[in-house]
Parts: sequence; C-alpha cells; structure tokens
Amino acid sequence: MKGKIALVTGASRGIGKAIALAFAREGAKVVICGRKQETLAEVVKEAPGSIFAAVCHVGRAEDLQRLVESTTAQFGLIDVLVNNAATNIAQVPVLTATDQQFDKMVEVNLKSAFRLMQAVAPGMCERGSGSIINIASIAGLKPQYEGMLYSMTKAALIMMTQSYALELGPMGVRVNAIAPGLIKTILSEYYWKDPAAETLAISQQAVKRLGEPEEIAEIAVMLASGRSSYVTGQTIVADGGRTLQ
Ligand SMILES: NC(=O)c1ccc[n+]([C@@H]2O[C@H](COP(=O)([O-])OP(=O)(O)OC[C@H]3O[C@@H](n4cnc5c(N)ncnc54)[C@H](OP(=O)(O)O)[C@@H]3O)[C@@H](O)[C@H]2O)c1
Repeated sequence: MKGKIALVTGASRGIGKAIALAFAREGAKVVICGRKQETLAEVVKEAPGSIFAAVCHVGRAEDLQRLVESTTAQFGLIDVLVNNAATNIAQVPVLTATDQQFDKMVEVNLKSAFRLMQAVAPGMCERGSGSIINIASIAGLKPQYEGMLYSMTKAALIMMTQSYALELGPMGVRVNAIAPGLIKTILSEYYWKDPAAETLAISQQAVKRLGEPEEIAEIAVMLASGRSSYVTGQTIVADGGRTLQ
C-alpha cells in the first residue's frame, strides 16, 4: 500500500482505528474521520505523518462532502475507501422500533456508504483503479434477536457492495465487504461486558474467544492491496466460526 491514499470512516477507536494503523504501517497515507477532534488527535499521535484527522458526522451529507473535498484537495486522489463508521441505537423488539430509529440507522450505517461511494468512486473509475471496503456484519447475513434495524442496514450494505462491484469492476474498481462476528469494541460491549453474556457468546463459536480489531484490519489490508486483485463483490466473514452453527 506504499504511497496509496486511504479514507477510513469511524476510525477514532475500535475496528476503524486498527484499520487506519495497519494501512499506515503498510505505507499508506490515511485520512480518518469521527465526530470528535480530541479522540482523532490521539490516533494521529500513533502514526504522525501517515494519519490525518478530519471531523465528520457520516450521517450528514454536508460533512461527507467536506470530507471528500478536503481529502482530495490535500492528497489529490483517494485509492482506498473504507466505510466503517456505524451505530446501533436501537437494539429493541421489532414491534417497538420507531420511524426515527429507522431513519437514523439508515442515515448513519447505509446512506453514508452510498454517499461516499458516489463521491469517491468516479475518481477511481477515471484512473482505472481503486478498492472500496464496506464493514458489514454477520448480523447482515442472519437476523439477530431484537436487532432488526442493525441487521437490515448491514444486509443492505452487503447487497450494495455486490451491486457496485458488478458495475465498477470493468473500470478497475473492486468493492468488497467484511462481515465481522463478535469483536471486542465499545459498539459490541452489550454482548461481552457482562461475563455471563461473554461466556454465552463464546460458547456459540468454534474459536473460543472474542475477536480483536486487528484481526479485521489484516483482512482490510488484503482487500485494499494488490494481494486480492482478483477478488470483488465478496463478503469475507471473520467470526471465529459463529455462523457455522
Ligand atoms: N464490534 C463488533 O463486534 C462488530 C461486529 C460486526 C460489525 N461491526 C462493524 O464494525 C464497524 C466498526 O465498529 P466498532 O465495533 O469498531 O465500533 P466502535 O468501537 O463503536 O467505533 C465506532 C467508530 O465510529 C465512529 N462513529 C460513530 N458514529 C459516527 C458518526 N455518525 N459519524 C462519524 N463517525 C462515527 C466513532 O467515533 P465517534 O463516536 O467519536 O464519532 C468510532 O470511531 C461498524 O461498521 C460495525 O457495525 C462491529
């Protein structure tokens, strides 16, 4: 990835941060976004000169436009786009989900990826190369109890990945998704903070531990680089074998 320019959303912590640091180690220049300057600045300190921060709420069209404009103004082009930022504001019984929750989940988890791909992919197509990675979830492959809105956005993200891959492949742009299982981050702490919940989750996996963000980052490096030059439209599952059962 030496000399490549990458944009990673939601990279002030968790999986996005691990991806940004892994890309930087591979020689890329990485623009990271999140909603808070202070937390982004801490990540920049870990790879100064390789990681650059941009405050952006991915649920806001004007923020995304500014993010793409400032990145292209500074670096000229974007070789790799990682749509990673997501939220789960509504782990609720399906019949209690509201209109507002539906719209917010779509805006942050799905429309942000659509908007960024629409803004970034044309430049990739013009240059005849680029890699887009969408961070989905195994929740997008199989419903989770009381997780309809989250699952729905991730399932749609997987279909968006396949659709973009089909149409952009002839222009040299590859589009893939990663579907993590349970990775130890703040987003997923509902499933592991309580030791009983963690034990239950692990009992449903072939690999008897939680995943680490760095294990997802390794897959992102492969998908971003020429090491996966014949791979497009795929969803790589990394779940310790959870979906085997
Ligand atoms: N952890 C898991 O078990 C797991 C499993 C499957 C899939 N995933 C997926 O992996 C991705 C990363 O999740 P994670 O577990 O690393 O989550 P996390 O630890 O909660 O980190 C989320 C990151 O996204 C940023 N973010 C949240 N809302 C944002 C917004 N509206 N605009 C911009 N940035 C925003 C956060 O920073 P700020 O709060 O400062 O904005 C943070 O940097 C997500 O797509 C998630 O669905 C995670």
